[in-house]
Amino acid sequence: MTADEIRRIFLEYMAERGHVVIPRAPLIPKDDPTTLFTGSGMQPLLPYLLGEQHPDGTRLADGQTCLRVQDVEEVGDNRHTTFFEMLGNWSLGDYFKQEQIPQVWTFLTEKVGLDPARIYVSCFSGDPEHDIPKDEESAAIWTRLFEEAGVSSDQVDVGTEEHAAAVGTGGARIAFYSKKNWWCRGGKAEDMPVGEPGGPDTEMFYLFPHVEHDPAYGEHCHQNCDCGRFIELGNSVFMEYRKTETGFEPLPRRNVDYGGGLARIAAAAIDSPDVFRIGLLWPIIERLEELSGASYETETRAMRVIADHLRGATFLAVDGVRPGNKAQGYVMRRLIRRAVRFAFDLGLEENFFPQIIPTIAGIYEEHFPEVGLHAQEVEAILAKEEQSFRRTLRKGLKQLKAYAADGVTGRELFVLSDTYGFPVELSTEEVARQGISLSEHWRDEFDEELAAQRARSQRASLPAS
Ligand code: ALA
Repeated sequence: MTADEIRRIFLEYMAERGHVVIPRAPLIPKDDPTTLFTGSGMQPLLPYLLGEQHPDGTRLADGQTCLRVQDVEEVGDNRHTTFFEMLGNWSLGDYFKQEQIPQVWTFLTEKVGLDPARIYVSCFSGDPEHDIPKDEESAAIWTRLFEEAGVSSDQVDVGTEEHAAAVGTGGARIAFYSKKNWWCRGGKAEDMPVGEPGGPDTEMFYLFPHVEHDPAYGEHCHQNCDCGRFIELGNSVFMEYRKTETGFEPLPRRNVDYGGGLARIAAAAIDSPDVFRIGLLWPIIERLEELSGASYETETRAMRVIADHLRGATFLAVDGVRPGNKAQGYVMRRLIRRAVRFAFDLGLEENFFPQIIPTIAGIYEEHFPEVGLHAQEVEAILAKEEQSFRRTLRKGLKQLKAYAADGVTGRELFVLSDTYGFPVELSTEEVARQGISLSEHWRDEFDEELAAQRARSQRASLPAS
């Protein structure tokens, strides 16, 4: 089953179950200055999760395009991408755990056809400090579903991820974690801004038994281990609390907020722990192979980064962002620049974006017609940025090489950025990549130069008295 089919089946299934399918919101949030991008399916629905009536009722579903750039430098492994689609369904004070958990289970096992024996879950172990109980109800529902499917259903309380890695879970199907199973925007309960909704969640994982556990991530593998043996498919948040100055209070209605990673579910459906093998990404990789003559087997990381970043930049352009020096425009510029840099590794030193954008548009235009509609405009915007950055990149890399012989200082990084337009986050990445030694205090040296330059330009602009 392909990702396109999975998206369609999910939305049809949700519609059958009384959900109104709503269109995706743009990647740039409307009326929300607290965040640059739409990073989850619930974000555009925040007012409704807090209690406002949604015009389409109490059951909603969608496929939401999201962008998360916090870990941009980690893109390159088998499952992290900055741009992704989240399949979502919501109950706004309608059904709760008893309906949500079997609904997701049916979707994953019957509709997509995943193997029940490879699905593992986690539940919330409770927060005694705030009087929030252990989520025994979700665990009991899971136990029943696992038993009906004829697979093991044992439980273990692991608390933190560190503890799980140290002592192991004994392969338990249902693991209770503490903070890891609390969901709110921004992640941690203690960082939740006052007024935000959140709650315990239950997360679903798929086991890839042929992936060996990597002890670099801890002695034992477990649901939340980062070694790639388990991949998180999605989570159901039981959003029933709101943060207050002193703790939490119940929301006026208990909501469900489900988010499933379309790419990851599609990867599980083809039994591949590598999400880049799915139909939404693989054609981009194939195109890169054709253009460069290199193979994905040997140039895995570079091809993953380019495919991910250009897809993200394409959607940003479709949603009206233009490369620039601030906010969303800056992030877009950074994605484009990283793609250009990694293309160098593939020997793609001439302008190649115009050869990739049509492939991306072809993948998405059926489900998101706006992508096809704007394809030529997007291509022109990205191609222009690619061209101008290539010149910078060549000069910057040459200058960095000249500095490299006796180690690079923060002052030199400043010159690279200020005179050559080679941004500091790219030059530090480059230094690490080439194993060049970098002055221990480079950040301070860089900041000193920056401050000195600011002082100079302020004096230069003082009005004559
Ligand atoms: N809002 C939840 C998430 O983004 C479903 O993971």
